[in-house]
Amino acid sequence: MENLQTQGIALPRLGLGTFRLQGDACRAAVESALTLGYRHLDTAEMYGNEAAIGAAIAASRVPRNDLHVTTKVWNENLAPDAIRRAFDASLKKLGLDQVDLYLVHWPASNMNLPAMFETLLKLKQEGRTRAIGVANFNIALLKTVVEDIKAPIACNQVEYHVMLDQTKLRQYLTAKSIPLVAYCPLAQGRVAFDETLTAIGRKHDASAAQVALKWLLDQDGVVAIPKASRAESQKANLDALKLRLDDDDRKAIAALPKDKRCVNPGFGPAWD
Ligand SMILES: NC(=O)c1ccc[n+]([C@@H]2O[C@H](COP(=O)([O-])OP(=O)(O)OC[C@H]3O[C@@H](n4cnc5c(N)ncnc54)[C@H](OP(=O)(O)O)[C@@H]3O)[C@@H](O)[C@H]2O)c1
Repeated sequence: MENLQTQGIALPRLGLGTFRLQGDACRAAVESALTLGYRHLDTAEMYGNEAAIGAAIAASRVPRNDLHVTTKVWNENLAPDAIRRAFDASLKKLGLDQVDLYLVHWPASNMNLPAMFETLLKLKQEGRTRAIGVANFNIALLKTVVEDIKAPIACNQVEYHVMLDQTKLRQYLTAKSIPLVAYCPLAQGRVAFDETLTAIGRKHDASAAQVALKWLLDQDGVVAIPKASRAESQKANLDALKLRLDDDDRKAIAALPKDKRCVNPGFGPAWD
C-alpha cells in the first residue's frame, strides 16, 4: 500500500473508516480489514468504538509499527485539561502506548486555538502521538493554525468525493503540503447508485464505488477512509487501487453535480 509522508508519519493512502461500527461488529470488521491488508484505521472518541478497535488490534498479528491509528478529540473537550483527559481515555481504550495521529475532530465556536495546539504539541513531544492534525477546518481556520500558530499539522480530514467540490480547500492544502484525508469518500454509499459511475465501472469490470475511490486516490495528496463492514466491500475497496481510469472517465466524473454534501460542519465563516 502506498503511503503519504507527512510530518514524520507514513499515512497509508487507503484506510478503514469506522463511524457507526460498534462492539463486536466493529471488532469483527476491523479484524477482517487487518487480515485483508488494511494498515490504517480511523476512529474517534465520539464513535464509542475505540475499545472494540483496540481488541481487534490486540487480536491481530500485525506488528504495531506496521499499523497507522488515527483517533480524534471531540469538540466539547478542546480546553487543555479536557484534551489531556480525552487523550488518556482514548489511549487506554485502544490499549496502545501511542497513536499515530491525533486530530481535532470538529471546530468549536469558543475554542482557543493557541492553547489547543500547545497542548496537542506537548502530547506529540511526549511521544504519545506521533503527529497531530485537524478535521473539518475551513481555509480561514487553517490559515490561523498553519500561518499564525505554525502548528505542524499532518492533515485536514474533510468530506470529499465525486459529488462534492473541494477545489479551493485542496489548493490551499496543496500549497502548504498538507494531505487531505477524504471522509465519506463513497458519499455514505450513495456513489454505488450513480448511473455515470456504474457505466464507467462496467467498462473496467469494476463497481461504481471502486470508480469513486480510484478517482480520489488518483489525486496527489489525497487519502481515503471508506467505511465498510463487510469483507467483500473491504476487499473491493482495496482492489480499487488497481483500477485505471482514463481521460473520458475523468471528464464524465467532472461533469457530475458537485454540491452533494453529506455532513455539514456548519461552523463560523463560510465553509470554504
Ligand atoms: N472527521 C469527521 O468529522 C468525519 C465525518 C464523517 C466520517 N468520518 C470518517 O470517514 C469514514 C467514512 O465515512 P462514512 O462512513 O460516513 O461514509 P462512506 O465511507 O462514504 O460510506 C460508507 C457506506 O458505504 C458502504 N460501502 C463501503 N464500501 C462499499 C462498496 N465497495 N460498495 C458499495 N458500498 C460500499 C458501506 O456499507 P456497509 O456499512 O454495509 O459496509 C457504508 O454504508 C467514517 O467511517 C469515519 O471514520 C469522519
